[in-house]
Amino acid sequence: MWDYTEKVLELFYNPKNQGAIEATDAAGIAVVFGEVGSIACGDALRLHIKIEVDTDKILDARFQTFGCTSAIASSSALTEIIKGLTLDEALNISNRDIANYLGGLPEEKMHCSVMGQEALEAAIYKYRGIEVEEHEEDDGRLVCSCFGVSENRIRRVVIENNLTTVEQVTSYVKAGGGCSSCAAEIEDLIAAIQEEKDLTAIRVAAEIATAQAQNRPLTTVQKINLIQAVLQEVRPVLLADGGDVELYDVDGDVVKVVLKGACGSCSSSLATLKNSIEARLREHVSPSLVVEAVS
Ligand code: FES
Repeated sequence: MWDYTEKVLELFYNPKNQGAIEATDAAGIAVVFGEVGSIACGDALRLHIKIEVDTDKILDARFQTFGCTSAIASSSALTEIIKGLTLDEALNISNRDIANYLGGLPEEKMHCSVMGQEALEAAIYKYRGIEVEEHEEDDGRLVCSCFGVSENRIRRVVIENNLTTVEQVTSYVKAGGGCSSCAAEIEDLIAAIQEEKDLTAIRVAAEIATAQAQNRPLTTVQKINLIQAVLQEVRPVLLADGGDVELYDVDGDVVKVVLKGACGSCSSSLATLKNSIEARLREHVSPSLVVEAVS
């Protein structure tokens, strides 16, 4: 028996926003759905959203799911979370936000929160005309053929949830939960991600320590090195989302970057910049930094 929170049980017994949203001809309103999973694999979710075209605001959200207690509760939670948000704001919802709304999920059931996040992205990308094939890009190499899970998906879930074991990855995206022939590769990926994170931390600490030892502010070269290190840390998440980022120039406190792939082609670029990159640069390098995209 799983140890579910009261919120999970409440939304399982009395799910909110269950069902579909009918298509409409109303002016200025769009209805779209995103779908993930397959009934053959055990879990499937179709998320419907109604959008006010002028404002990009989500007016309504509903779900249809084939799954367990936590799949129903996660889907219901997601619809409650995203109602009233703009599409850019909704794209910043992580699977962790869904789990937190529920007061937590058993680790073995975290894939239900991931499924919610992915259905939301699928709906928004569909509305914005971004094909999944474009979104996956070349680094979307398949790691787990049993469950069709790409390297990018594994990278994203490992980074965003600080996962450290193959078993955890299996709980979040099912990879490794079949024949387990991909387990060694998943383990290598986890180790590589950890190494990248450690390297970033070492570089940042070294630059700051050097500046402090010399009792002076960071030089431009040190600042650029730090910015590069932080961008390296952000890149895997963007890659997993079909995008990428490259440093173009640093002009005083203005960090100019080039956004590529899905990041550069959709209007959520600004949110990506502000939330994923600028916040990290301000935290690790300087609170006065401003990020600008150049084309
Ligand atoms: S290939 Fe991943 S479990 Fe079989």
